[in-house]
Amino acid sequence: MVFKLFESLEEFLDESANLIFKIYKESITKYNQFSLMLSGGNTPKPLFEKIAKDYNDKINWERVFVFWADERYVDKESDDSNYKWAYKLLLSKVNIPQNNIYRIKTELPLEKAAEEYEKEIINFFQGKEPAFDLILLGIGKDGHTASLFPNSDLLTENNRLVAPVSPAGEPYVPRITVTYKVLNNAKNILFLSSYNDKKNIIDEIITNKEKAKEKYPAARVEARRIYFFSCQLPTAPRGGGL
Ligand code: 6PG
Repeated sequence: MVFKLFESLEEFLDESANLIFKIYKESITKYNQFSLMLSGGNTPKPLFEKIAKDYNDKINWERVFVFWADERYVDKESDDSNYKWAYKLLLSKVNIPQNNIYRIKTELPLEKAAEEYEKEIINFFQGKEPAFDLILLGIGKDGHTASLFPNSDLLTENNRLVAPVSPAGEPYVPRITVTYKVLNNAKNILFLSSYNDKKNIIDEIITNKEKAKEKYPAARVEARRIYFFSCQLPTAPRGGGL
């Protein structure tokens, strides 16, 4: 695992965007496509803006396929929707074909939305084990990642790739999440998080992963290459959204 602690938000965003672009280039060279899974929360918002601003022309968006690691079960226009922010700040600003965007369809009944999304992932990987080129993840203050919360039955889920989740953390709405079957088979995982408010969790994951696994779902992620980028300063705009 590569761990980097940044002292400024600018540096954190620069290095994160650089790494994403490097993995994009590697994937295009090897597979002629780049499958990317995004997460919600506040941390990725300024990064989405940066990629739209600085990388739009450098990326062949026709070969980029975007999914989400989790979604809140809300309308796609809601400020709580993970899709909404990624679309508003990044996807609507770049030349990505609409068909390359795999939104989790929260207009369907919860179970059905999870099933449909799972089918989309299976079809995208043509029935093989899904192996995303890059998954961006965050860490919650309770150590959750995607929508895998402490004590959830999904921590030991071995069959499903995607599952519905009962309300467990802010905002208190049901969610849909991928499971470790997807996370742990990714080629690259990049955790992005603030540091000061999650210091205990992050330090424990870095120094004593086995012990951290008992408490924090984020510590159970075991992909081939894991990068852990953390920023000393707040990564989110004050007062909620942008
Ligand atoms: C979600 C997430 C979630 C998020 C963390 C960190 O939908 O809430 O995907 O796992 O990444 O809660 O959120 P922040 O970036 O806001 O700290």
